[in-house]
Amino acid sequence: MPAGAFIALEGGEGAGKSTQGGLLVQHLRDRGREVVWTREPGGTPASEAIRTIVLSPEFEGLDPRAEALLFAASRGEHAARVIRPAVERGAVVVCDRYVDSSVAYQGYGRSLGAGAVRDLSLWATGGLLPDLTILLDVDPVIGLGRLSNPDRLEAEPIEYHRAVRAGFLELAASDPSRYMTLDASGDVNEIAHAIADRVDSALASAGAE
Ligand code: TYD
Repeated sequence: MPAGAFIALEGGEGAGKSTQGGLLVQHLRDRGREVVWTREPGGTPASEAIRTIVLSPEFEGLDPRAEALLFAASRGEHAARVIRPAVERGAVVVCDRYVDSSVAYQGYGRSLGAGAVRDLSLWATGGLLPDLTILLDVDPVIGLGRLSNPDRLEAEPIEYHRAVRAGFLELAASDPSRYMTLDASGDVNEIAHAIADRVDSALASAGAE
């Protein structure tokens, strides 16, 4: 049985994570892998219920610490019920957003501090981190311009989204062996090929092929 793997897709609003996630999942399934494609906040019934709360424009002004705790609670449930069991049985988990979204949006965007927010998620998940994180980097002016009907986070001012982007780039720069950063304004198929190549080599070196 091949070894499992955990791959996270990260990036600001409108970076194309869903499109690239879908293409990566198809690529892996074509190669015969069991793939679990999931997202945060969400991925279990309770975590989807938390998603409804945190994204609802009804809760404008939600306390930043409460917001961070809700994302961490959603993540703890998701890691325990979906991600960890799937990796243990040999599947490849492709997750749209994970811990780094909390570090970037709550740690940098809400100025709660990267270390505290990361520690909260590590506690919530029992220390579960991705084997590889793919960061789709895009100027927030371009990314937000791709969206319609903004949710509570998307509706934040541009300075907030600039801080989020800087946070993601700092995280990726701090550990290049666990991150792949791509310019998300590029050609969709070229980005997809680059991601597939990097994931294939990560799986091969993990003895997963
Ligand atoms: P996303 O799934 O990208 O939204 P959409 O369905 O509109 O594409 O992410 C939901 C929002 O939640 C997004 O604005 C980022 C934010 N978020 C955080 O602030 N912290 C987190 O830990 C996560 C996972 C998401």
